Amino acid sequence: MAPVVRLAEPRDAFAVAALTLQDDRECGAAVQPGFLDRFADAWLADRARVTFLAEAGDGRPLGVVTAAVVTKLPSSRRPDGRWLHVSLLFVTQDARGAGLGAALLAALLTWADENGVDRMQLNAAPRARSLYQRAGFTDPSPGLMEWRADGAR
Ligand SMILES: CC(C)(COP(=O)(O)OP(=O)(O)OC[C@H]1O[C@@H](n2cnc3c(N)ncnc32)[C@H](O)[C@@H]1OP(=O)(O)O)[C@@H](O)C(=O)NCCC(=O)NCCS
Repeated sequence: MAPVVRLAEPRDAFAVAALTLQDDRECGAAVQPGFLDRFADAWLADRARVTFLAEAGDGRPLGVVTAAVVTKLPSSRRPDGRWLHVSLLFVTQDARGAGLGAALLAALLTWADENGVDRMQLNAAPRARSLYQRAGFTDPSPGLMEWRADGAR
């Protein structure tokens, strides 16, 4: 059976946590004791977040995309709306290159379209830029600035 992409539900908290842990490991991070519980609790408590899961026909989690939903305050200059910060897009190594990353992004874009989201932002890994470009992402405006507590550039 082909993999499916679906909106994650509360029962998926540990699947989302396990995929996040795999991404951290791949990036060389040391696994902290109790991480799965801590992540699952935080993810369940975060109501302003949308998450899609990709899973194999046997239910094995293969990928995830998760984004924070920011609701704009009313403005006299701009229409009401929401925007997303995509914090993770991850597909397990054995499932890569088959279009699951693109399918997860497409599901998120459809959700955005149906839920009053007018902008989406993320920090792209260099190798993933072409994937985002194919999905319609462009480089941000020159006016975008950020501040970091550690002063890192
Ligand atoms: C990025 C990622 C989700 C893509 O998943 P996927 O199912 O292989 O994606 P698709 O099959 O739909 O598309 C393949 C595209 O993924 C990107 N990609 C391939 N390998 C990648 C890697 N190791 N890391 C990041 N992106 C990669 C490329 O843009 C590729 O397109 P290209 O062949 O034209 O260069 C997956 O490679 C991954 O989880 N990488 C590690 C985590 C990561 O880098 N996430 C993105 C952070 S912004």
